[in-house]
Amino acid sequence: MAKLQVKKLLVTGGAGFLGSHLCERLLAADHDVLCVDNFFTGGKANIEHLLKHPRFELMRHDITFPLYVEVDEIYNLACPASPVHYQFDPVQTTKTSVHGAINMLGLAKRVKARILQASTSEVYGDPEIHPQSEGYWGRVNPVGPRSCYDEGKRCAETLFFDYWRQHSVRIKVARIFNTYGPRMHPNDGRVVSNFIVQALRGEDITVYGDGRQTRSFCYVDDLVEALIQLMDTADDFTGPINIGNPREFTILELAEEVMRLTGTNSKIVFRPLPADDPRQRQPDIALAESKLGWRPTTELAQGLERTIRYFQQAL
Ligand SMILES: NC(=O)c1ccc[n+]([C@@H]2O[C@H](COP(=O)([O-])OP(=O)(O)OC[C@H]3O[C@@H](n4cnc5c(N)ncnc54)[C@H](O)[C@@H]3O)[C@@H](O)[C@H]2O)c1
Repeated sequence: MAKLQVKKLLVTGGAGFLGSHLCERLLAADHDVLCVDNFFTGGKANIEHLLKHPRFELMRHDITFPLYVEVDEIYNLACPASPVHYQFDPVQTTKTSVHGAINMLGLAKRVKARILQASTSEVYGDPEIHPQSEGYWGRVNPVGPRSCYDEGKRCAETLFFDYWRQHSVRIKVARIFNTYGPRMHPNDGRVVSNFIVQALRGEDITVYGDGRQTRSFCYVDDLVEALIQLMDTADDFTGPINIGNPREFTILELAEEVMRLTGTNSKIVFRPLPADDPRQRQPDIALAESKLGWRPTTELAQGLERTIRYFQQAL
């Protein structure tokens, strides 16, 4: 029987929401996993169950500083991802995206590792076309309160492609759309965690604007599966590739679904829309379907139930 090749994998931001699920899945596939995190938004609680795993290693490190380790593949996820967190220290957010990318790409170049970037649908900004496919260049405000994240991630993509063109580093760029699931931060202000926490506490459910703006929500297990499949694609495939769930819901529909599933007595209240909040967000995942043979399989109600169960215990 062919022996499984054990790879040494680095996951930056591995103690965060997505990173912790990714570490779990990579360990389950019998790989060695080095989790690097500065614990800005992530926490040991997310990876506590992995600490005793013989193939898991945790390193406290800030990726804005160089890192010298021997690895075969790098999943670069380190970056605060929700507006409350990335706007807390916007200069550090841009540094994490840009200096972090330079450091991780430098490492990939030195040790000849493959490297995957967790980019974002925010590179499309407030889009004029709908749904967004990878060929769309986006409409991003370069000087607004969200720019530290949006432009940081855009610059990181530029760096990835320049390291590929100039130094032949093997890159994969995933543009991740709204993802939700257990271990989301309860106070990160993201819509799914917000609504669930408010519903479980019996507080008012705050809808920004009229609630008719749309989002698509991908369950974390589906997302992680796509990232692993993307890393395993042939060297000539770089992306960028959209990863998300194309099924669109209005924010109001999401609020109603959360209320139904939690059985809360909370009421919906409306608040002004924050600056640069996109009206619509929906991935075109034709490329992921053809290249990876991937599509999300978790229904919103199913994913929300698992997430609600997590928050019931975590709160
Ligand atoms: N969750 C989503 O819906 C979503 C959507 C698009 C893109 N992404 C991207 O996916 C990645 C993970 O997002 P998440 O939702 O898990 O967020 P998260 O905040 O839970 O995780 C990010 C992790 O990175 C760590 N980190 C931040 N700055 C760091 C630094 N300078 N050095 C080392 N570690 C650092 C944090 O402590 C945290 O553990 C991010 O890059 C984010 O931009 C997420």
